Amino acid sequence: MVKSLVKISPSILSVPIELVPEKINKVEKNIDYIHIDVMDGKFVSNKTNGIEMFLAGKKSSDKPLDVHLMVENPIKEIEKYKGAEIITFHIEAVKSEEEVLEIIEKIHSLGAKAGISIKPNTDVKSIKRYLDEIELVLVMSVEPGYGGQKLIPETLEKISLLRNAGFEGLIEVDGGINLDNCKVVKEYDIDIIVAGTAIFSALDENEAILKIK
Ligand code: DX5
Ligand code: ZN
Repeated sequence: MVKSLVKISPSILSVPIELVPEKINKVEKNIDYIHIDVMDGKFVSNKTNGIEMFLAGKKSSDKPLDVHLMVENPIKEIEKYKGAEIITFHIEAVKSEEEVLEIIEKIHSLGAKAGISIKPNTDVKSIKRYLDEIELVLVMSVEPGYGGQKLIPETLEKISLLRNAGFEGLIEVDGGINLDNCKVVKEYDIDIIVAGTAIFSALDENEAILKIK
């Protein structure tokens, strides 16, 4: 069954910072979140000014902010994103179970939903122990680090594995989703689609969003 009520979280990664308010205002009525990609140049080679993007998103609209931390040391970054609806960190960045639980607790203490993200080669098994503690899993459908990549279809199987493991929280998919492959993505039991290039490189951003939805 194709899910038709999927929520859209546009990634503003490719939008020049000064154009964020204008671009967001234009699509605001059709989006559900604003996806902020935070990269530290260590966990991924690319670097973004996460705070600047976060503040630009906040200033532009009342839509909830969906923060995706691609950083080596998530615990250090969390506090900066107070006010976000969702804060997601990468399991690959964390060394111990104790640390994972500490990060989740910290996110919850700010009143945000806690998400864990897994890279394309990371097994669902690595996060099974935390599924009862978190509100969201972010399945990466490309290697984190850059926008505009091609979706890796095998990653989508993880959505079924998560549901079969009993996960009833939100599942978000991020990377390489476009107007052609979104139908396949929506065949899985997901809640949120992240898209950057497919929306902000389209001639008509709203048309692209509605087609994905
Ligand atoms: C990749 C980021 C994604 C990405 C989405 O590391 O997490 O959010 O920017 O952009 P597209 O839709 O272009 O893959
Ligand atoms: Zn992202």
